[in-house]
Amino acid sequence: MKILLTGGAGYIGSHTAIALREAGFEPVVLDNFANSHPVVMERLAHITGQPFQLEQGDVLDTPWLEGVLRRHRPIGVVHFAGDKAVGESVALPLKYFHNNIGGAVSLLRAMETVAADDPAVAPTLVFSSSATVYGDPATVPITEDFPRSHTNPYGHSKLVIEDMLTALCAARPVWRVGTLRYFNPVGAHPSGLIGEDPAGIPNNLMPYVAQVAVGQREHLNVYGNDYATPDGTGVRDYIHVQDLAAGHVAALKALLGRGESFTVNLGTGRGHSVLDVVRAFEQASGRPVPYRIAPRRAGDVAQCWADPALAMRLLGWQARHTLDEMCADAWRWQSGNPNGYRS
Ligand code: NAD
Ligand code: UFG
Repeated sequence: MKILLTGGAGYIGSHTAIALREAGFEPVVLDNFANSHPVVMERLAHITGQPFQLEQGDVLDTPWLEGVLRRHRPIGVVHFAGDKAVGESVALPLKYFHNNIGGAVSLLRAMETVAADDPAVAPTLVFSSSATVYGDPATVPITEDFPRSHTNPYGHSKLVIEDMLTALCAARPVWRVGTLRYFNPVGAHPSGLIGEDPAGIPNNLMPYVAQVAVGQREHLNVYGNDYATPDGTGVRDYIHVQDLAAGHVAALKALLGRGESFTVNLGTGRGHSVLDVVRAFEQASGRPVPYRIAPRRAGDVAQCWADPALAMRLLGWQARHTLDEMCADAWRWQSGNPNGYRS
């Protein structure tokens, strides 16, 4: 029942590790800690009362990965590892093509090699894709058959990996691949012990709002209030990371059971504006979140939310947590760990 989680010490991976253990799987965390902290492993053990197996290393190292797969013989792999900062990807495109696309190729080759020698290691993969593959959608809600495009190297890397997986499944029907397009993951584990720990100034809305509420930043810049949305600010489908974690468990069960590959949106099907998030966070934290209206951010779209019906149909999964719960859990994490894992 072992599942290998590349990038398993990161934000979404760490929450998924707990959900998998709770569902009776045996997660093995693989990470090079490029964007996470080893203390995560202690927190995971504390939450579940049992240590997690760790393989510290780089997915780009194919021979080492083969060794990891041969040692653990996982029945499935979840591939979270990669870089994810949109702005950085514009400045450093090769870093993204190398780590994201190169990392995926390395993992797929290692899995294929080991599966050829060891039938216990079936090539079963869940891949972390993103709503970024929809570019600027013509309408909302977004279904999986919407046209895909990219506006930055990060999004481009996700598109290329999706296409590689499609080609691989066509050529080798033994592969079972679940591609999950996350919308906007936010929130934290209800223990307040693990959560999102961005390095430097947060790019994303919820961690920025949380740092304003805790007093680390003076005010939020709201990027535009002249969009064609109810209050003029950008609308997104925020999804609790606990719901996302449950989505990975459901995806693995579907792949291991029915055995057919799929691509699904993981979102709530509801959109919230920037000002909705500010108000909900003020309510959850009891702290003011001062903001200023600033110019639009380059590359932003007005609104983006999912039609999650296919995930319900194929996986029996749906998101359960409200925006208020997302803010309450993000606040518990932020207020208990004002400097993240360095607190
Ligand atoms: P994260 O940065 O917290 O986690 C990624 C983990 O991968 C980190 O622990 C990092 O140390 C590790 N890693 C990176 N490169 C590695 C390598 N070469 N070898 C081994 N480990 C490596 O990010 P996250 O928010 O948990 O995102 C996980 C995945 O989900 C990513 O692929 C990301 O693109 C995707 N995703 C995230 C979001 C989001 O908003 N958080 C939205 C859509 C998709
Ligand atoms: N926003 C602000 N101020 C900030 C940060 C964000 O007003 O300081 C606004 C944005 O303009 C947008 C909304 O808050 O309207 C959400 O912005 P985020 O940066 O949190 O999220 P995005 O939807 O822009 O992008 C995120 C990830 C992408 C991913 C996408 C879909 O950063 O990598 O969700 O999953 F592709």
